[in-house]
Amino acid sequence: MKVDILEREGRNFFYAYSRRQGRRLRRSREDRFEKDLPLFLLPRFGEGDEGGVLSREKIWGGGVLGCRTVLEIGFGSGEQMVKRLQADEKLMILGCEFYRNGIASCVLCMEDGGEGLRDRLRIFPEDVRRLLPYVGEGVFDEISILFPDPWPKKRHHKRRLVNGLFVKELGRVLSLRGEVRLASDHEGVMEWMESVWESEGWCRRDNGGHLGCDFPEDWVETRYQRKGAREGRKSYFACYGRDGV
Ligand SMILES: C[S@@+](CC[C@H](N)C(=O)[O-])C[C@H]1O[C@@H](n2cnc3c(N)ncnc32)[C@H](O)[C@@H]1O
Repeated sequence: MKVDILEREGRNFFYAYSRRQGRRLRRSREDRFEKDLPLFLLPRFGEGDEGGVLSREKIWGGGVLGCRTVLEIGFGSGEQMVKRLQADEKLMILGCEFYRNGIASCVLCMEDGGEGLRDRLRIFPEDVRRLLPYVGEGVFDEISILFPDPWPKKRHHKRRLVNGLFVKELGRVLSLRGEVRLASDHEGVMEWMESVWESEGWCRRDNGGHLGCDFPEDWVETRYQRKGAREGRKSYFACYGRDGV
């Protein structure tokens, strides 16, 4: 089994502190969710499976040629993924999320008007760190981490998803000219993410600069971003690519 990332980090690498389940879903929603979720799951991969490493074709199937491939980490209820797929038919998204109620909202939202989008959305309903070791090199053109859990207290900083090791692993699965998109409504978290990417030698691609808010043209507001704005918080954005590319 490929557990590099786990072994290097130590025993608690996969321990996630964020909640995985909120209120119980109503019976009818639960039934629809259980029925529809398999439509979005990845094919079998990993140890003992002859398919082995996940390639673009293995994730999305044959229609991926000429498309922009996106990994969205912690998609929440996934409205932004659905809107992006509706706006751009050349987009393919693999979303990772372990909050069951969020995954259910996304899957059920695809029922209403998501028919034509199904082949372009895949969901990994688990911790993204369990997926990464099985993904081939350069599979994604974009990796988005939007409004990650902030863990603002200093003693909780070690719970933050982003660290040097994680950034190295993302670099492996990002295509040569690919970009990483980061957003947060927490100044400290944004500075933390900027400093990790910069100390790993990545180059800033957007024009916003330190704590900038130069959101890209195809940006779709997320649920957390709206919540932050309602509560008077500003949102920051950063985009990184490889040095010299
Ligand atoms: C603050 S929410 C933001 C949700 C969404 N991106 C938005 O902006 O509305 C952060 C999300 O990341 C998810 N998350 C945290 N760690 C994760 C991990 N290791 N793998 C996948 N999802 C994760 C949480 O379950 C949570 O739903």
